[in-house]
Amino acid sequence: MRSTAFTEGSGSEMIAGNSAWSKKHLLGMEGLTREEIGVILETASSLREVNHRDIKKVPTLRGKTVINLFFENSTRTRTSFELAGKRMSADVINFSVNASSVSKGESLYDTVANLKAMNPDVVVIRHPESGAPQFLAHHLDAAIVNAGDGRHEHPTQSLLDILTIDDNLLRLGRTEFSGLTVAICGDVLHSRVARSNAWGLATMGARVRFVGPPTLIPPHAAEVFGVEVHHDMESGLAGAEVVMMLRLQTERMQGGFLPSTREYFHYWGLDRRRLAMAAPEAIVMHPGPMNRGVEIASDVADDPERAVILDQVANGLAVRMAVLYRLCGGGRKG
Ligand code: CP
Repeated sequence: MRSTAFTEGSGSEMIAGNSAWSKKHLLGMEGLTREEIGVILETASSLREVNHRDIKKVPTLRGKTVINLFFENSTRTRTSFELAGKRMSADVINFSVNASSVSKGESLYDTVANLKAMNPDVVVIRHPESGAPQFLAHHLDAAIVNAGDGRHEHPTQSLLDILTIDDNLLRLGRTEFSGLTVAICGDVLHSRVARSNAWGLATMGARVRFVGPPTLIPPHAAEVFGVEVHHDMESGLAGAEVVMMLRLQTERMQGGFLPSTREYFHYWGLDRRRLAMAAPEAIVMHPGPMNRGVEIASDVADDPERAVILDQVANGLAVRMAVLYRLCGGGRKG
């Protein structure tokens, strides 16, 4: 699907000196330029300090309304969007399926029609169907943020991953993404994180590998995404500077993808022995939620030197603040 990532909108107010952002929605990483990604990362970097203040609140989005519309479970994304809106003084409404009329059979169209009547400024949506955020973008005046749609995209996850890698470039002996080798390992087929990162990291200049069994790699991945494909961990991890493990998404599988989770870990799990095949300073990432002992060993996941998994979560808050800020055309930072 050709994305309409950051489709042209009515023109958000921009931070002085930046002209790359005049877009209305964040629907995907596909189609986003390096400059557009750079603007979000710069904004996130400058907003990070708000989260370390004694009083963690700025008036930037006062008077703006953000609706979080989650049709799938979430810990990190929903919480960080809520916190991001609240730390910038927006009115944040959390709408979850179980507590809404969707559980009584209301359609997405009717839900959207009712949201429209409330005139929100931003709607953040997570939905099991690919394309649901695009549907909202067609029917609402609000800015739409894709917080994960089916197997399609999860752009704010990719942005926080790129920010986390950027934070670690120097320890990897680099000053830019060009030539950086990133191995995205495991259940790529069902992963919107892998897709968004394939687009986003390629745009930044990184070399991306998809590493996993043939049953869990999308067909024609090399041609579609411009990635290298490896069907064994040894070659996939060789020299990789960033090792991004993916959750085994059993809820999206209908039979036959793998024999057992135990066998999966044996062949595809990241343990110390496998991590030693990557570059000496390689960092370990995981979008969460993690299945310890299935795709990643606990001691690797908790390694304070190599794992940056909780840094990803912290950066997620800053990135989501930046995205809301840019889409709402925020004023002063406070
Ligand atoms: N990475 C991620 O999307 O996590 P949640 O499902 O907890 O939001």
